[in-house]
Amino acid sequence: MKLALGCVQFGMPYGVANAAGKVSEKETREILSAAHYAGVDTLDTASSYGDSESNLGEFGIKDWKVITKLRPILPECHKIADWVITEIHGSCRRLKVDAVEGVLIHHLPDLFSKKGLSLVEGLQKAQTNGLTKRIGVSIYSPEDLDRVASLFWPEIVQAPFNILDRRLLDSGWATKLEEAGSQIHIRSVFLQGLLLMNPADRPEKFKKFDAVWKMLDAFCAKQDKTSLQFCLQYALSHAEFQRVVVGVASKGQLLQLLEAAGEKIHTDFDPEIEIPQGLIDPRCWNNF
Ligand SMILES: NC(=O)c1ccc[n+]([C@@H]2O[C@H](COP(=O)([O-])OP(=O)(O)OC[C@H]3O[C@@H](n4cnc5c(N)ncnc54)[C@H](OP(=O)(O)O)[C@@H]3O)[C@@H](O)[C@H]2O)c1
Repeated sequence: MKLALGCVQFGMPYGVANAAGKVSEKETREILSAAHYAGVDTLDTASSYGDSESNLGEFGIKDWKVITKLRPILPECHKIADWVITEIHGSCRRLKVDAVEGVLIHHLPDLFSKKGLSLVEGLQKAQTNGLTKRIGVSIYSPEDLDRVASLFWPEIVQAPFNILDRRLLDSGWATKLEEAGSQIHIRSVFLQGLLLMNPADRPEKFKKFDAVWKMLDAFCAKQDKTSLQFCLQYALSHAEFQRVVVGVASKGQLLQLLEAAGEKIHTDFDPEIEIPQGLIDPRCWNNF
């Protein structure tokens, strides 16, 4: 199953559209049970996602593939490679597992700092010790990958990708990673839920992108698809990607995604208008 479950919502309030806050423990268990029953085998979490890891550990996720991420290095920390091992042991303890499928660098400035090579050394040591099967990075922009690759070759890259944000393909990095046998896990398929919001519910600050919303609505109508079907099937239809990480706030949302995931669609969708960079990067959303 290409769908993977994003787990930030299980540890803290998350999402531009999320009025409900953190997903309850009861709902989290229902989502995980339904996902497992449907064949979803991969969970995306991080040590900086509140108590997401320990909630997953309480549920029991031994037979899942878990991707977790390192929190930013603490300024007072100097023995970086040892710190990495300690951090991964901490994640495994909270997750109640002996090892994980992958550990990603979550805070790229750490990798690009003078502590970067020790960070990589720690990850490689953790891999040699069998604490993690793969090591990699989580990025916000494909441009970051040029510098990453100059320091180490990531076996997993998690990156944003959706109908408005095709930088991973357009940059040529998806092909380079695929040719090198690296796994690509994409996220932000719904732009934190923004692409699925009813126009009336969309926060005021996104109204200025009406041309984009009109284009999307027109395209969905032409394909006779809902925005959820279109966004999800568009992401799933790219063979370059091994996992599509989606976030849900309820079992109902998950069941809708599983139903929508079934069909294939043409991926030759070409936005007729320029997509503002500020719209596709949630880090910019507080700037407007
Ligand atoms: N730097 C990083 O490594 C990084 C950054 C961001 C996310 N992530 C990972 O990616 C995962 C997904 O986050 P994302 O930002 O990529 O979010 P996303 O999948 O683009 O959007 C998730 C949001 O879409 C809405 N949604 C989902 N299913 C729906 C349905 N059936 N009907 C209506 N709305 C629906 C929900 O919004 P509502 O909650 O409002 O209902 C949900 O919170 C996170 O859990 C996390 O694991 C990683």
